[in-house]
Amino acid sequence: MRTLLEDAAHRAIRYLDALDRRGVAPTPDAIAALSAFERPLPDAPQDPLATLAELDAIGSPATMAMAGPRFFGFVIGGALPVTVASNWLSVAWDQNTGLHAPSPGTATLERIALDWLVDLFGMPKGTGGGFVTGATTANFTALAAARNAVLARAGWNVEAEGLFGAPPITVIIGDEAHPTLLKSLGMLGLGRNRVVRVPVDAQGRMRADALPRIAGPTIVCAQAGNVNSGAFDPFPAIVAHAHANDAWVHVDAAFGLWALASAQYAHLAAGLIDADSWATDAHKWLNVPYDSGIAFVRDPAPLRAAMAITAEYLPTEGAARNPSDYTPELSRKARGVDVWAALRTLGRRGIAEMIERCCAHAQRFARELAAAGCIVHNDVVLNQVVVSFGDAARTRSVIAAIQDEGTLWCGPTVWQGHTAARLSVSSWATTDDDVTKCVAAIMRAARA
Ligand SMILES: Cc1ncc(COP(=O)(O)O)c(C=O)c1O
Repeated sequence: MRTLLEDAAHRAIRYLDALDRRGVAPTPDAIAALSAFERPLPDAPQDPLATLAELDAIGSPATMAMAGPRFFGFVIGGALPVTVASNWLSVAWDQNTGLHAPSPGTATLERIALDWLVDLFGMPKGTGGGFVTGATTANFTALAAARNAVLARAGWNVEAEGLFGAPPITVIIGDEAHPTLLKSLGMLGLGRNRVVRVPVDAQGRMRADALPRIAGPTIVCAQAGNVNSGAFDPFPAIVAHAHANDAWVHVDAAFGLWALASAQYAHLAAGLIDADSWATDAHKWLNVPYDSGIAFVRDPAPLRAAMAITAEYLPTEGAARNPSDYTPELSRKARGVDVWAALRTLGRRGIAEMIERCCAHAQRFARELAAAGCIVHNDVVLNQVVVSFGDAARTRSVIAAIQDEGTLWCGPTVWQGHTAARLSVSSWATTDDDVTKCVAAIMRAARA
């Protein structure tokens, strides 16, 4: 076992060391070589060292360098070294962290990580939460609590009785809500299409003056960090209107919540903390390994009502917090351990610096690309830059050229009628020198 694990560590270190020197996207040859995996299930046991060697020889080159400093697609952080290490260690522990009794170490670490996050974001002490796979599941989890609460106020127990015959719930969303929020609503039986959409402004923010009248059980879904522009909804107006009418406010804050960790950017999220629930990712801006998201609910009672399980053989009763009382899964990986490791290592100052560094890089991209004649379409308030290089066809061909050349990787979007490249600066690893190299590479492609 020692030889195998040491071999894995050596291979992983070699992989990470080489990231800065390889193209960000895998080469067509590396992708074609994946066909070597396509063979029948072996009959006989194989040498585990040979398994690892094959994984590395064929798998490693076929990866996108998301862990490296110049990947700007989607909203993707690179895992901080300490979280790669904590992940290795906790995988070796192999703790099923559904319940505290059989896995006290990891359950305790998750409870502490949750308390630290609640403190970091300035949420009320006692806020409930669960460590889940990502913002999609965090939205799902928090919205399950919201569904419970608004129906309970109307005298309906949705966990017991289901949605058939329940009082209808109105769900209000911004017109640029992330598509995964709609997926979460669909999974909860609230419908992807039966939402009331609020028009947005030129940055994709919900227009407070266009909020509809609220009557009956209602959930308002706001957003902190528009996936294109990075913009924040006007929370004070949304929360005031919703709470005056007994509605629940949920915020999809997949990456925007982390603005609260920085004194420089917290103002963007003014009023956010007055909502009832929040969803965020740790694999985005906290830079922990995939997959890792967090659902927070101000009043833990509806979250527990929606998620807790009871059965004779499950030791769920007791003073200690059972992680699975707050998540869709029972058997589960202790994702909060990597969150704990990141928080313990960075501290408040380190987190703030990481957020501010990413935002500064994004502002530099915007400034230098605009100065070179590219069109930046958004107000770069956070870590997102939406930039085009001419008309739609020209912009798409420049993005393809950037991806092929390999210095960096960014993807396309169509936002508010503009076909553009999205640059999301979310990795701890990106340096000033990387931005310099990337601006030069983008301009080479744009001028070719
Ligand atoms: C605003 C927003 N919500 C939700 C998601 C989905 O997050 P995940 O892929 O972690 O489920 C994203 C992903 O970029 C996002 O930007």
